[in-house]
Amino acid sequence: MLVLGIETSCDETGIALYHTERGLLSHALYSQTAMHGEYGGVVPELASRDHIRRVLPLIRQALAAASLDLRNLDAIAYTRGPGLAGALLVGASIATALGFALKIPVLGIHHLEGHLLSPLLSTPAPDFPFVALLVSGGHTQLMEVSGLGQYTLLGETVDDAAGEAFDKTAKLLGLGYPGGPALSKLADEFSSSGQQGQYRLPRPMLHSGDLNFSFSGLKTAVLTLINKHEITEQTTGRIALAFQEAVVDVLTEKSLAALVKTGLTQLVVAGGVGANRQLRKKLCHKAEKIGAKVFFPELEFCTDNGAMIAFAGAMRLQSPALRDWEPADIFTIRARWDLEVQKMPPDA
Ligand code: KG4
Ligand code: ZN
Repeated sequence: MLVLGIETSCDETGIALYHTERGLLSHALYSQTAMHGEYGGVVPELASRDHIRRVLPLIRQALAAASLDLRNLDAIAYTRGPGLAGALLVGASIATALGFALKIPVLGIHHLEGHLLSPLLSTPAPDFPFVALLVSGGHTQLMEVSGLGQYTLLGETVDDAAGEAFDKTAKLLGLGYPGGPALSKLADEFSSSGQQGQYRLPRPMLHSGDLNFSFSGLKTAVLTLINKHEITEQTTGRIALAFQEAVVDVLTEKSLAALVKTGLTQLVVAGGVGANRQLRKKLCHKAEKIGAKVFFPELEFCTDNGAMIAFAGAMRLQSPALRDWEPADIFTIRARWDLEVQKMPPDA
């Protein structure tokens, strides 16, 4: 079965072709970050307009790369939510129109389900059940994943998401948008140059006794440091390192606590912040000590992409219990959508 995946929830247009027997056949991505960078953040109206421009050429590109055409498709999976309403509507309308024209099933996928299943695209892949740490620009959650579509929220951020905190702190340090990767690069360079950190930032909610997170205070702590010290290349590097260490420590400790609490031994890390090298290193090191194993998606599938949506669609289509989860009126989006609540409310 060949599934076309369409991701348009935010500022990346992602397209992919996933075959249930042959695996990922091709994928294509266009990132709008340069366009939004001029404004210091995502401009929703511009995002929607750009998705409209990119989505069909990218579908053609992905099909050509796999030497296939539209008639070979068996199903289409699109990101139904959560995300920017206008951006989601682009993917939903293209998917629905193509599905209608080709007379094939169309499935709306939860963006976070795409992220948390993305490590299953790699080898070795984890088996169910596992704990998932979802760390993206909009979400920071720990989930117990018992099976496909069986998700229990263990804890989440009470304010900013980890990626959002990286981006806001990077902005304070003048690193542009989206600043997460730039901040983390600077922190890594600073620490590998052999220079000492010197600054120590708080580890918010580290001892809260639950699996929740809070990152907005860190941004304020960074601002205090900036106001106290002359900003040079060295102090910027030091602050970046102190910030990264604080976030990585909290994410690592809470993830380990989630493994202990559930008694599970596999941790899946997904979402843009999952690309962070220090987080990867520390999680692997600490997990090994308690006999657990950590699984990450390939770096290119950490951030938003079409492959994770095509894959989640393929998994749902192969599962008889979940195949019919889609309501009859398929052309729907959910800008806000809890992952635990997988069914559409009747009045949506
Ligand atoms: O999953 P994603 O592509 O989009 C959302 O669904 O939000 O995640 C994007 C987020 C951004 O906040 C970005 O700054 C962050 O992931 N990010 C990183 C790194 N790469 C991307 N944060 C820290 N270190 C990185 N290497
Ligand atoms: Zn995402």
